[in-house]
Amino acid sequence: MERTSIRLGGIDLTSPVMNASGPHSAEKGEIYELSARHRGAILFKSCNVAGLDAPDNLKNRGVEHFAALARELTERGKTVFGSVVGTNDDELVSVARTLDQAGVKALELNLADDYVQNSVGAFASLDRLNEVLERVRKEVKAVLAVKIPPKLSLDPRAIADLLKRRGVAIAVCANDLPRDFNVDLATAVTPGGQRTVSQVYAFFQAGDGQLDVVAVGGINGGRDAYLAHLTGAKAVQVGSALIKEGAGALGRIDRELDGLLAENGKNSVNEIIGTLRFQG
Ligand SMILES: Cc1cc2nc3c(=O)[nH]c(=O)nc-3n(C[C@H](O)[C@H](O)[C@H](O)COP(=O)(O)O)c2cc1C
Repeated sequence: MERTSIRLGGIDLTSPVMNASGPHSAEKGEIYELSARHRGAILFKSCNVAGLDAPDNLKNRGVEHFAALARELTERGKTVFGSVVGTNDDELVSVARTLDQAGVKALELNLADDYVQNSVGAFASLDRLNEVLERVRKEVKAVLAVKIPPKLSLDPRAIADLLKRRGVAIAVCANDLPRDFNVDLATAVTPGGQRTVSQVYAFFQAGDGQLDVVAVGGINGGRDAYLAHLTGAKAVQVGSALIKEGAGALGRIDRELDGLLAENGKNSVNEIIGTLRFQG
């Protein structure tokens, strides 16, 4: 087993690094390039039923485009994750079902984007979130992930409990560590007292080991990935670095993470997940 192998939501992956939904993951050519150059999971750009020309960040060719790609790639043994958006529960279910039937291993419900928040409103209350998750869960067999809005009015622990109850295995959380966050990689100790250092950390703690957390935001190098793992992330997603650097960014970050694990005497990334300690 390789040092950076993980099991995410019950899915074995040879790398904890994957692309974030959106960057480099909308067009066939981009997705094929990612799939050829990266050994980990490939996550599609968010899609709805018919496709969108606006808002700009959710431009997509519609679910059938992604379903066709999912069929082709899974036939070649690739692990593919889909990302779902819509303006109502029926649309979310329809997109999720189509991708599920096309063979995606996991479905990321992008309930975080304003487009979805302002229509579906899944994070308006726990009851509403419960309703949405209950419907989708009934209709698909794929592992379910939820992309959590970076700003929340609901309590992370209450959300985490609900995700677990509704059979959601993965929470995709904001890696919003303070800019000056400092930790000794060898000991995993950070100066200062016990505190919630990021959304990733809040959900890791709230999940009590039964919810896998994926960190998204600001993962540009191996050290960023290492820190995200220390604060509880099982896997990390890369957005901006992919746009800047192209598909090679994922392999680079994986190799840098591997190097830091080796330097710190770790045989597996699993040895560091959630091991952050506070000095004070
Ligand atoms: C051009 C662009 C398109 C994006 N499209 C999506 C999308 O379709 N679905 C989604 O969940 N997030 C989308 N995102 C957000 C990214 O998945 C990610 O959360 C964000 O870029 C933060 O990661 P980063 O700091 O590594 O860039 C998009 C981001 C960018 C820059």
